[in-house]
Amino acid sequence: MNPPAKILLVEDDAAIVATLSRVLTNENYEVVVEKRGDLGLMRAKETVFDVVITDLKLPGLDGLELVRELHKARPRLPILMMTAHGTTETAIEATQSGAYDYLVKPFEIPELLGLVEQAVAASRLMTEPVQLGEPGAAREAIIGKSRAMQSLYKEIGRVAAKPVGVLIRGETGTGKELIARALYQHSDRANAPFVAINCAAIPETLLESELFGHERGAFTGAESRRIGRFEQADKGTIFLDEIGDMTPGTQVKLMRVLQEKCLQRLGGKETIPVDVRVLAATHRDLDAAIKQNLFREDLYYRLSVVVLGLPPLRERKEDIPDLVKFFLHKYGVEFNVENPAIHPDALEFLQAQSWPGNVRELENVTRKILLFAQSYTISVEHVRAALAKINPPAPTANKSLDDYADELLTAAQRGELADAHAQLQTISERILFNRAIELAHGNQAKAARWLGISRLTLREKLIQFGLHPKQDQIE
Ligand SMILES: Nc1ncnc2c1ncn2[C@@H]1O[C@H](COP(=O)(O)OP(=O)(O)OP(=O)(O)O)[C@@H](O)[C@H]1O
Ligand SMILES: [Mg+2]
Repeated sequence: MNPPAKILLVEDDAAIVATLSRVLTNENYEVVVEKRGDLGLMRAKETVFDVVITDLKLPGLDGLELVRELHKARPRLPILMMTAHGTTETAIEATQSGAYDYLVKPFEIPELLGLVEQAVAASRLMTEPVQLGEPGAAREAIIGKSRAMQSLYKEIGRVAAKPVGVLIRGETGTGKELIARALYQHSDRANAPFVAINCAAIPETLLESELFGHERGAFTGAESRRIGRFEQADKGTIFLDEIGDMTPGTQVKLMRVLQEKCLQRLGGKETIPVDVRVLAATHRDLDAAIKQNLFREDLYYRLSVVVLGLPPLRERKEDIPDLVKFFLHKYGVEFNVENPAIHPDALEFLQAQSWPGNVRELENVTRKILLFAQSYTISVEHVRAALAKINPPAPTANKSLDDYADELLTAAQRGELADAHAQLQTISERILFNRAIELAHGNQAKAARWLGISRLTLREKLIQFGLHPKQDQIE
């Protein structure tokens, strides 16, 4: 649906250019090559790219200078630096000067592709405009004219340009990330980097070094220095998503950075000033977490100078028709269905649902409905069929993953299923979590450790899979 991402490759070695161009083009990226640093810089200043990949040693202008100059000219453009073994220090310096990340040669192609994908996503978070209220021509918009949404837009207008931290609260799928991006785009830091970090997706030990960086030897495996995201986002905005999942130890460190406006890398002594605006979001009940000593009260007050509460979808059902039409248009383009139409009864039926997964769930269902209906006018029956497909079958004992894969693929071939990948992921996760809890004799702390996830995340998964009593326990 998105146009292919455009990558500028600045590299003088013809063999590497040939390989990378082929690999990247195969992945559907549009690749432009420059063989000199100075020409690369010029090209990147005059043309809009999503990502730049540059070598360190270049004729004309070396990679490090290129990073410095380009970051000044286009602070939102992610730059990946390739470097030979032995010059890693310079690559680290490059991240300090604004490079997004670096790769040490020789590297494996999947590693490169993984980084490119991340960089493209980061770039689009910054540059893809999020429209408020009306879709207009934008691909991304916050839809909704309900009272609750109108007052939200007003609040965004009021606080976006102020240099204060904002805490975005709302149930899962209510649009917290979209709001964070809208706040950033309407701020006076809109031309500086926006760095999003999902605190729930990164294990505790890695999260601290991701945020604050580390020095060589700070812990086992810290083979070289790393520049953290706070340092990288200097003068810009950092978005700490799922802040409620941050462990108390990391919270202490974050609190210190916010208070003192400077940081020390893990294992480091140097004090580095950072000027970063912090936006945070969570779907957790932080008041309850504070009472349970899972979340620091002082940090909460720091983060929540302004609190934006997003209404759950069930409290603004009048917005459902607009949302459905917006998503039908969006996926109509993706699935090549021209002007998808929906019967008023079907809209009413959708409006009558409770939507515990909020807008994200409505979006998924709408997508599925369109797959069922194709170019026919969408009826209540299409909606029913899509809703029935949403909950994947419960895994039964003694069935192998091969069996599940076959079942799902057969359904997909018959056109009855559009997300075999997501379904198998859910099924295999459910099997894994179930077994972990069994083997740990119900000890969630132990199971979480084995799985390498936080206890909060585990508990949430167990509830999602119906493997856990619904009330929250205090341990
Ligand atoms: N008001 C809205 N208008 C249009 N799309 C929306 C709106 N709210 C959410 N969405 C879409 O729903 C999906 C989920 O939104 P988002 O990721 O911002 O939710 P979230 O609150 O961060 O959820 P989670 O807590 O699960 O991370 C996204 O695809 C987003 O584009
Ligand atoms: Mg989110």
